[in-house]
Parts: sequence; structure tokens; C-alpha cells
Amino acid sequence: MNKISSDEAIKRLLTGEVVAIPTETVYGLAGWIKSHEGLQKIFSTKERPFFDPLIVHIASPKAAQRLTPLWTMAHEALAKKFWPGPLTLIAKKSDEIDPLITSGLDSVGLRCPDHPLTLEILSKIEGGLAAPSANKFGKTSPTSAGHVFEEFGDIVPVLDGGSCEVGIESTVVGISQTDSFFQIQIFRPGQITASQIEKALQESGLKAQVEYAQSPVAPGQLKHHYMPKIPLVIVPEEFDWNQEREKVENELQGKFHNPIFWRQSPDPNIASRELYQRMREFDQQGYDLILAAKNADSDQEKWKGIWNRLEKAKTFALYR
Ligand code: TXA
Ligand code: MG
Repeated sequence: MNKISSDEAIKRLLTGEVVAIPTETVYGLAGWIKSHEGLQKIFSTKERPFFDPLIVHIASPKAAQRLTPLWTMAHEALAKKFWPGPLTLIAKKSDEIDPLITSGLDSVGLRCPDHPLTLEILSKIEGGLAAPSANKFGKTSPTSAGHVFEEFGDIVPVLDGGSCEVGIESTVVGISQTDSFFQIQIFRPGQITASQIEKALQESGLKAQVEYAQSPVAPGQLKHHYMPKIPLVIVPEEFDWNQEREKVENELQGKFHNPIFWRQSPDPNIASRELYQRMREFDQQGYDLILAAKNADSDQEKWKGIWNRLEKAKTFALYR
């Protein structure tokens, strides 16, 4: 593995190289926002289409403000409450931001990640770092330096910051304001929930409505994403392989000899921390099919981020 120090990471980023960096959610494939070459390398390394916008990582709310002409009281309140942390705030983009980052949109995603190594780098680099998850487009996000190596080999140098605590990507939030009222839309669910966001805004004395967005607004929200190497089928909690095997094999047009029946940890924080790691392990452990069982409380808000990823990773769902 091509492990590097934070000083070396800074040096490379400033010369237009990409570097994998740790965050509390997943590892990011970072490029300096002021290097067009570095930004281009993010897309080519990931084989990511240009229509999928990148999140810009900064060290503080102050640094975020420099990248947008419209930092509302809701932005400030949420940044104060949840940063550093797994929350991305969409804001109107400043003219200086390279359109490659925003896929031509007039808004930009901003996030202050909660990881000491990455915060150190961010405090020393002017502007910020654009970083999508450090995996090939559409594949499972990496939650350790080893996963990044599995994705890219030695081509991508890694700043090893250990295993990611949160394990799934940040909650992405859009904010619009009419007079003194804020309309908040959650474009991608994550560990931070709508209720927490609503509460934080209330506590700041702001009037707001918070809701989960229905339709995809950015391609990262499209259906197939986070795909493991073997098929993943969502099944009911009470599931009998022997009884359902034929149905599943017909649907997948193949034979499966070594399925894994996957129950989530009852604790959503543990389930999300383990989610991608497990999805990678199953394949390496020789299983040929993942049967992901719905948990009884999977409809509850704190499970939304996890099941959003599983729904996108699935080959299909088998409901009775
Ligand atoms: O936790 C995370 O957010 C990780 C770590 C590395 O910070 N990053 C991450 O980046 O998940 P990525 O590129 O895999 O997902 C970014 C997603 C895009 O696919 C898009 O859905 C949304 O964030 N996004 C970014 N900019 C946006 C914008 N201006 N408007 C709406 N959605 C945006
Ligand atoms: Mg991603």
C-alpha cells in the first residue's frame, strides 16, 4: 500500500495529485479545489461521469463562507451544531469555484469532516479539498485504508487514519429561504436525521420545515450505487432459503450455492459502521449471494441512511 504522511499529502495535493484521505464517514479521493488538473484526476481515477457533483471539504464554517455568496442563518446554525461532522450543506456557489466540482450546478456541497488528520490538512490548504468517496463509480465506499487499496492499488496514495467511525456517507441537505422561513430538503439520508436538524434549527430560533426529498436531484442519488461484487437481495426477516431458492435463482438467472443470510446489528450506529466492510467481506469469504434481512425497526428514521444504501446496492428485493 502506498501510505503517505499528512505533509506529503499536502505537497501532492498542491501539485495537482489526488490523495485518499480519512473522514469519519468514508475515505475520500481528494483533489485541491484550486487545481483543475487535480479535479480532473478525481473523475478519471474514479471513472466517474462529469454530471455527478463533488463535495468540498473545509476546516470550519468560516472557510465554508468564503466559497458561497449566500450563507444563511440556517447554514450557520447547522454548521455550528453538527460540524465537524457527517453533514453536507448545499449553498449557492461562488464564481471562483471550478464548474467541474459542481457539474455546472449553481450550488456547491460543503462539509467539515470530523477526522484529526484531514482537519489538519484542511487547516493548511487554502480553499479546500473536493473529495468524493474513494471508490470506483457506483461501487461500495471504502471505510479503511485497506479498502482504498482494494479499489485502486498503489496508484492512489493513502493517508491512513484508521477505520471510519460512521461508516456511511454524510447527510446531504439543501436549504432555501423565503423571508424568514427555511425549507430544508434532505437529498441523501445519513447518520444525522431530519428530526435532529429540525431540533437544531428550532433551538436557534429559526422557523423551518425539514423533509426528505422524494426525487433524485443529483446523480449520486440515482438508483444503482454502492454495488457489492456479488448480488444482494433484500428479504423479509423470516426467510427460508430452501423455500425461496427457486424464485431467487430465477430472478437472478443463476445458481447459488453459498448464500449469506445477513442480519443487521440492532444498533444502527454499529450497523452503519460495519455496513460497507461487511459488503466487501462477504465476497472475499467466498459467499456468492447476500440475503439482506429487513430488521423490524428498519422504517424508523435512524435506519433511513442504512436502508437507503442497501436499497441502492440491491439487485432486487423479495417481498412476500
Ligand atoms: O461523507 C461524505 O459525504 C463523503 C466523504 C468523503 O466526505 N463524500 C461523498 O461524496 O459521499 P460523493 O461524491 O460520493 O457524494 C456526493 C454527493 C453527490 O453524488 C450528490 O448527490 C451530492 O453529494 N451533491 C454534491 N453537490 C451537490 C449539489 N450542489 N447539489 C445537490 N447534491 C449535491
Ligand atoms: Mg460515493
